[in-house]
Formats: sequence, structure tokens, C-alpha cells
Amino acid sequence: MVQAKIYYDADADLGLLSGKTIVFLGFGNQGSAQAQNLRDTGIPNEQIIVANRVDSYAESAKAKGFNVEHDFSKAASVADVVFILIPDQVQPRVFNEQFFPVLKSTATIVVASGYNVFFNLLKFQPGQDVVMVAPRMIGSSVRSLYEKGRGFPCFVSVEQDGTGNGWPVALALSRAIGATKQGAIASSVREETAMDLMAEQALWPNIIMMFREAFNVLQEAGCSDEALCYEMWMSKEPAEIFERAADDGFVLQLKHHSTVSQFGQLNGALKLDGTAMREHFRDILHNQVLNGKFCTAFSKIEEDLEKEGSENPLNELYRKSEEMPLVQAEKRVRARLAGLV
Ligand code: NAI
Repeated sequence: MVQAKIYYDADADLGLLSGKTIVFLGFGNQGSAQAQNLRDTGIPNEQIIVANRVDSYAESAKAKGFNVEHDFSKAASVADVVFILIPDQVQPRVFNEQFFPVLKSTATIVVASGYNVFFNLLKFQPGQDVVMVAPRMIGSSVRSLYEKGRGFPCFVSVEQDGTGNGWPVALALSRAIGATKQGAIASSVREETAMDLMAEQALWPNIIMMFREAFNVLQEAGCSDEALCYEMWMSKEPAEIFERAADDGFVLQLKHHSTVSQFGQLNGALKLDGTAMREHFRDILHNQVLNGKFCTAFSKIEEDLEKEGSENPLNELYRKSEEMPLVQAEKRVRARLAGLV
């Protein structure tokens, strides 16, 4: 059993950021939330630069009073800290080509996701600090929880301590964006990537498959589309269950259900043999995620994800998913609810 260290505000010295130029590469979900939090913590606006291509995100940063630099090399050359907050799949191209060649040899580079660092897709100099500060929340919650004076769950790690000062700076930056208020959990890019990709490639695909098959069987048994959609997800019952699980406990949330339901769920779950599923999960974790197989395959199609229509593999997956009876039924139900049918 591994017990992680947790860091709080008291462990972090904001004074370490004094006079440092902090560049946010990207002003999207995370970039806009983290940059605003950091400024509201008291880091002077003149120390902050938003490096952004010309688009609506840049306009939003300007409207919020940030100094926006469209020339990435220029921003990189003055940065003491760079938060890389553009989509994961474009980070290697943008960072390696426009930041890496001019970045100071002692700069701190911050990622919000372990993927590109774990798979060695980003280039760093040996004297630089490479840090992960990875909120476990969408950007809007990173901002709204900060505004409410509360923290948000976050992972923190130092992957390369080039200056020897990596941890204190990582904690100062975590505190500045509001990540140590609730406690930042010491982690690593390996752990974060393993958990993230396992959830995305093993856990949730199985959950989608289970909903699909439960839907098929109940539809076969004569249940209406309307009843099924509401029963299974449109009522938001599953969302509420997970909310209760977070508050009361993964199993103890069952106490909010009827006795018939509690008995059915626990009795059913404990009877199921998870051996095959565990093997399947192990296989995905070791032979698809951690060995880099998925990463290599994804890198090959990454540029196609910006294409339009059927040349974009993600569009093709959405198109195929339309064949699921569950998706077709939901479309009919939603059209009916909107008064279109
Ligand atoms: P996003 O999709 O909101 O990024 C938009 C930003 O990236 C904009 O500033 C846009 O101008 C810039 N951008 C997009 N394509 C670009 C390109 N080709 N060249 C230059 N700039 C480009 O990104 P998001 O979702 O905030 O993710 C940023 C990082 O945060 C990622 O590493 C992600 O894994 C991580 N993360 C995201 C979470 C979320 O709430 N979405 C949660 C936790 C971590």
C-alpha cells in the first residue's frame, strides 16, 4: 500500500515567485482558470504573459486584462516559468519547435497532465525543472472553487529537478493557482498517466458497453425508449450516485437507495467474478498504456484529428456510435421532448 504525501498552503512559499516571469501557453479551459487564480493570489499582472495564437482565446485573455503575446519564441525567451496549457496532442509540436530552442536553461516547465512527459514527447534541457500540477477538475471548477475560497483536488510532482529547487517552486506555483488549499497529492506522471488512460481506455469503455447492452436487453423486453432513457441516465440518477459516492463513500452511498435496491446491488456485485475483467484491465494497463503502444498509435493519427468530415478518425467513431440502438433511441426521445416530432 502506498500512502501519498499531501501538501497544503503552509508548505508553499509564494515569495519564491517574486520577480519571476510566468508564461501561460494557452488560455483555454485550464489556462484561463489557472492564470486568473494565480493573478488573484497576488502575482502582479506585469509578471504574467499569456502566449496564445490569434484566436478567440487570445481575445478573452486581452479582455480580462492579461498581456498577450502571439510570438511564442518571444514569450519563451523571457519566461522563468511556462505553464503548458494547450491540448496535449499539439504540445510536442508547439513546445519543442517554438519554446524549447529559446527557453532559459533554468526555467520551470509545468504540465497539467502527465502524458507528454511520461512518453518523453517534450524536449527539456538538463538544468530545467519539469513539474506536474494536474488539477482533477475541469477548468471552470478550478476557477469557481478558487473564487469561493475553496481548493480543488490536484496532483503535484517534480519529474526533473534541474535547479535543485524544483519542489519548493512546484509548491509555490501550486499554491498560486489554488491547488494546495484543499491539499495537493504527491504523484508522478507515470501514476497520473496510468490512472487517466486506464479510466479512458478500460473503465469507461466497459461502462459504455454495459449501458449499451443493458439498454438492448430492456428494449428487447419491451421497455419504451422514453422510459429507458430516463431510467438509465437522463434523470441524472447516475450523476447523483457518483456525487453521493464522493461525499458518503463508494459503497455507503447505497444507504440512500431502497432496501430492495441495496440488497440487489450488493448481492449482485459480490457474486460477480471479476477475474476475467481484472485480467482485461491488466492487459490494457501494461500492454496498451504503460508500454507506449497507444501513445505510438495515437501520435500517428494525431494530425488527422484536425481534419474535417470522415478523414477525421474521431468523427468516424462518432458516426459508428450512431448505430447503437441507445443513441438512436435517445435522438428520438430528445427530438420529441423538443417538440420536433
Ligand atoms: P483547451 O482545449 O482548452 O486549449 C485551448 C487553448 O489551446 C487555447 O488557448 C488555444 O488557443 C490553444 N491552442 C489550441 N490548439 C493550438 C495550436 N495548434 N497551437 C497553439 N495553440 C493552440 O485545453 P485544456 O482542456 O485546458 O487542456 C490543457 C492541458 O490541461 C492539457 O494538458 C490537459 O490534459 C490538461 N487538463 C485539462 C483539463 C480540462 O479541464 N480540460 C483537466 C485537467 C488537466
